[in-house]
Amino acid sequence: MESEVTTQEQSPPTLSGATSESAPDGDGRDHVHLPGTEAAGAGQLGPTGRPMPVFPDPAPLAAHGPARIIAMCNQKGGVGKTTTTINLGAALAEVGRRVLLVDFDPQGALSVGLGVRANELDVTIYNLLVERGHDVREVIQQTSTENLDVIPANIDLSAAEVQLVGEVAREQILARVLRPVMDDYDVIMIDCQPSLGLLTVNALTAAHGVVIPLECEFFAMRGVALLVETIDKITDRLNPRLQVDGILATMYDSRTLHSKEVVRSVVDHFGDQVFHTVISRTVKFPDATLAAEPITTYASTHGSAASYRQLARELIARGGAA
Ligand SMILES: Nc1ncnc2c1ncn2[C@@H]1O[C@H](COP(=O)(O)OP(=O)(O)OP(=O)(O)O)[C@@H](O)[C@H]1O
Ligand SMILES: [Mg+2]
Repeated sequence: MESEVTTQEQSPPTLSGATSESAPDGDGRDHVHLPGTEAAGAGQLGPTGRPMPVFPDPAPLAAHGPARIIAMCNQKGGVGKTTTTINLGAALAEVGRRVLLVDFDPQGALSVGLGVRANELDVTIYNLLVERGHDVREVIQQTSTENLDVIPANIDLSAAEVQLVGEVAREQILARVLRPVMDDYDVIMIDCQPSLGLLTVNALTAAHGVVIPLECEFFAMRGVALLVETIDKITDRLNPRLQVDGILATMYDSRTLHSKEVVRSVVDHFGDQVFHTVISRTVKFPDATLAAEPITTYASTHGSAASYRQLARELIARGGAA
């Protein structure tokens, strides 16, 4: 382990953070080699301290559906759930997967990040959850990215948690909402709010898998035990098929020892559950959000886009998506 660390210290990958933060951002022309992307090279030690496997280009799909549902979940705020939902979704769409993203946070950041003016909508995920008689297909919106659709949310959703408490099978409502479109998509990804309340329980009950983004900072692991406990309870009582698809280190800064230490300690705890791909910290992500575009089109040649493309390949290689 010591020698592995030394190896990486001696031949560091190009410092992605430094390059991208100091480059005149926004033009998307800079080719930045990030650790955790294909630039790290097969067999070389990746940023998680393990040899980096090759994740093959996924074969095109001959037919679509039924969807595998993935909940993007961490009750800690600001860890990259929404950013990962948008950009992993876009990277999967780019390789021909039909992807539906579900905004399941009343803040509506996913909707905004995809250019949907959710505050002006009369019907959103909220209405699908609490009212009968809506057709989910009428709420789904296409985005500017081919194969990438979204069910938007706005602040209305904040009332749902309270309203659903008295419902029969209150944990299964989202699963029921999504059922009619399962065959239209290959992947449905749910962007959870930072809480373990009833909405998140609904997401975990509907899901086949959960992806847990963790920010590379000192308190990253705080709360993860509670999240894992919640996932275990849901597997036990509501959704036996639920599995952890992977833990994703986000906002990694290869310039700091601290980032490396956090990633290594996450790997020490969770082993192979941790994705080999890590997502570096770069201003490209907030920039892309402002532009209401996925990183894969906003800065297509940037290392941060390459990271999410690699994550899509890694997820498919793990069986987390078709
Ligand atoms: N890899 C990254 N590098 C730099 N900034 C990032 C990165 N990932 C996300 N961000 C920024 O950090 C902020 C939080 O990210 P994001 O909204 O994806 O987190 P979240 O977990 O969905 O937050 P919340 O819990 O509030 O829903 C956003 O401003 C986003 O643009
Ligand atoms: Mg979010």
